[in-house]
Amino acid sequence: MKRVLTGIQPSGHITLGNYLGAIKPLLELQNKEDVELLVFIADLHAITVNQDRQQLKKNIRELAALYLACGLDLNKAHMFIQSEVPCHNQLGWVMECNSYIGELERMTQFKDKKQKQTEGVSAGLLTYPPLMAADILLYDTALVPVGEDQKQHLEITRNLAERFNNKYGETFTVPEPYILKTGAKIMSLVEPTKKMSKSDSNPKAFITLLDDINIAKKKIKSAVTDSEGIIKYDVVNKPGISNLLTIYSSLSNISIPNLEIRYKDSNYQNFKEDLANLVAQFLTNIQEKFNYYINDSNLDLVLNSGRDLAYHVASRKIQKVYRKIGLGRY
Ligand code: AQP
Repeated sequence: MKRVLTGIQPSGHITLGNYLGAIKPLLELQNKEDVELLVFIADLHAITVNQDRQQLKKNIRELAALYLACGLDLNKAHMFIQSEVPCHNQLGWVMECNSYIGELERMTQFKDKKQKQTEGVSAGLLTYPPLMAADILLYDTALVPVGEDQKQHLEITRNLAERFNNKYGETFTVPEPYILKTGAKIMSLVEPTKKMSKSDSNPKAFITLLDDINIAKKKIKSAVTDSEGIIKYDVVNKPGISNLLTIYSSLSNISIPNLEIRYKDSNYQNFKEDLANLVAQFLTNIQEKFNYYINDSNLDLVLNSGRDLAYHVASRKIQKVYRKIGLGRY
């Protein structure tokens, strides 16, 4: 049985980008393969930038309910909160000690996020990848469903696993990324050459799964396109409409070429109207389920049992790692 692991930061509500890039492939794996899923709320990662305490607490709970609303099957999946399993910090430190500052400074996400900080750049922003490597390597993860933006971090995870295995002997499974062909990089609705991000300062740039339905429809209708009016996929010359075609295709499972044929004689207004309705239908469905799970007292039980299972697996790996390095009295 293959182990699949994924995490999302509770740095805001899940966007369509997070859903299509990370949750949709997770659900595909859940339905198709002989797998065990470990799904976590990456709250330690979220504090690499400033977070409001109350908002963070709310986001953590809402993210847990959202995962379930998206269709996580608890017969196959275990869900937990990262900070409740201290092994992540323990292996994170070991991974930091095996990482080089130069390779961390080269990470695109670090360079991007560093520029956005107004109150100084935390060391955690730099050491985000070794912590992410720890998240993955603790569980002998085989597959990691991620969006395109996390591919580089997965590459460094693989390097760290191999580096450790070479130095101390076979310890970690080297994981593979699982990236969908369509939807792995959903772009901002305002600046379609930039990734859609839940922490974007402009709320019109993204749609979250908990957005008010009418506001979400408006965001689609006002999404930046071009003046040509031809519904054609061309990322370089027509990034806006290409992004909307990607969202349409990912949500409907109709291929982009088939959408181009369907809207050959149409215009942006009609296309956006149909996409807005599709997004509305998708959000309504998720939000109905979310409203159930967020008020369900079982949510805590699910998180408790996920935490216990994760700790059971991860603490054994920590002991093995400490023993190999020569730490403590192991
Ligand atoms: N725009 C995107 N398109 C496709 N996939 C995406 N992901 C993020 N944005 C897109 C994927 O979502 C998963 C969870 O991401 P994360 O929350 O851990 O961190 P992130 O990649 O930094 O996502 P955001 O939304 O941009 O968060 P903030 O604004 O807090 O930095 C990952 O698998 C990611 O690839």
